Amino acid sequence: MTFSRNAISSEHIDAHASANSSSIHYPLTPTSRSIELPDTSTRVSYRQISSYIEARIQRGDWQAHERLPSVRQLSRDSGMHRLTVFKAYQHLKTQGTIYARSKSGYYVAPPAVHTLTNENELEPARFDGTLNELHHLPARFQFSQALIDPNLLPNHYFTEYTKKVFDLYPKLLGTYAHVQGDLELRQLLAQYFSQHSRFYIEPEELLIASGAQQAIFLIAEAWIRPGDYVLVESPTYATALDVFRQKGARFLEVDIDANGYNIEQIDRLMRQYRPRLFYLNPTFHNPTGLCIPAEQRKQLVDLAAQHQCLLIEDDTCSDIYFGAAPPPPLFAYDTEGYTIHIRSFSKYISPGLRIACIAARQPWMHMLISCKSLTDGGTPLLNQKVFLHYFMSDRLHRHLDTLRIALRIRMERMQDELQQTNWRYTEPQGGLNLWIELPQELSASRLLSYALTEGISFVPGSLFDHAKRPSQHIRLSFSFANEMLIEQGMKELIRIADEL
Ligand SMILES: Cc1ncc(COP(=O)(O)O)c(C=O)c1O
Repeated sequence: MTFSRNAISSEHIDAHASANSSSIHYPLTPTSRSIELPDTSTRVSYRQISSYIEARIQRGDWQAHERLPSVRQLSRDSGMHRLTVFKAYQHLKTQGTIYARSKSGYYVAPPAVHTLTNENELEPARFDGTLNELHHLPARFQFSQALIDPNLLPNHYFTEYTKKVFDLYPKLLGTYAHVQGDLELRQLLAQYFSQHSRFYIEPEELLIASGAQQAIFLIAEAWIRPGDYVLVESPTYATALDVFRQKGARFLEVDIDANGYNIEQIDRLMRQYRPRLFYLNPTFHNPTGLCIPAEQRKQLVDLAAQHQCLLIEDDTCSDIYFGAAPPPPLFAYDTEGYTIHIRSFSKYISPGLRIACIAARQPWMHMLISCKSLTDGGTPLLNQKVFLHYFMSDRLHRHLDTLRIALRIRMERMQDELQQTNWRYTEPQGGLNLWIELPQELSASRLLSYALTEGISFVPGSLFDHAKRPSQHIRLSFSFANEMLIEQGMKELIRIADEL
């Protein structure tokens, strides 16, 4: 999939140059391609300098994301006052022609929306790829990844723990991991769940998976047959949909809003279709950030037992809350064993370690262990041990306390910028995203196409829909970019939206 850039012809450069030629002479003809600096013997305005820089960018002397001469250098080379050069750069920055990187200087911005007013010019291509493809597009303002900024994660401690692990278990890499997961880690997690999540579980009922993604895959592999009905929230986590789709599942949608689920709707769907499972993300739901109230959690486990429908509770964010802690997981209310709980530690400890835990009663655990054994024979032991030693340290709790504050501040920065718009959202009490409803006249996919050409990424709501229907919603993650980038990126995004 490619994004067509805005083609700028030499005619366009000439036209642009002549449009600006009232004050500066630009001899831009096919034979003469020099662009002259303003005559510094007379008083030169910052606008003249910015026109000069702009013309050179348009001619291709400086390419997108290339560093421009420093203020000092340009001032020295041209004999113009430094303040004037500085003002010119600021002017171009406000226009979106260039951007600044902290302590590094000014860079050429990718082709900007404000140049796309000519009807003959190409529109950027619509994005029609997957979530994964979207995440891999280059972005200066990264609002698409629901990942935490690595600067907020305890990365630097992992060097220390890796060394400690090799000191403690010198033959660690000389053996296979237990397929169900390291026993020491499962014992620790069993203790953790009883203290923090209010459910009691034996280490034999826990399986360490390589991320929640693998956990979803193992469950689908073990339990879904082609043609099975699967209940999913609408919207829901896109990659889980891909896994179920690949297993040949048929989807049934469950609504989710600020009041939670419609329990009668779920009852009706379970009764009518006898779905194989209900995949749900009830705590700081991805993408909406909503949290299902305790009362509905109880009702849901009762329904699941009544209709013998497995509940797959995917929990990646329950520790990332901004006010009160969320209610206990569904698993804590389940006395009949119809819930499988997936807890990932990717988001707030280390996505790279790929550690998640599945809590399941028999016979599910038995099935999952067989599946895990066929898949990879066990999650790498080194990762499990490094995680274990960090997880049992006091640092975890201190880290979580500061992380919650940092994320809240970032969310508030994004909300501050959104105040200038009529975009609607429900403020989440936790998680990493704002789920925004755009006004009817603004197309999410068009906004994304233009935003991507300016280096701003976010996820269009259609990707969270199993049928990929067009949506007025977008997901903006506030957890990856820092406050400065959030402020700058949101200003640009809103400007683009205003110009569409
Ligand atoms: C709801 C949900 N489930 C699962 C995952 C995957 O998590 P992991 O990194 O543990 O595989 C994510 C990651 O974005 C997620 O948001």
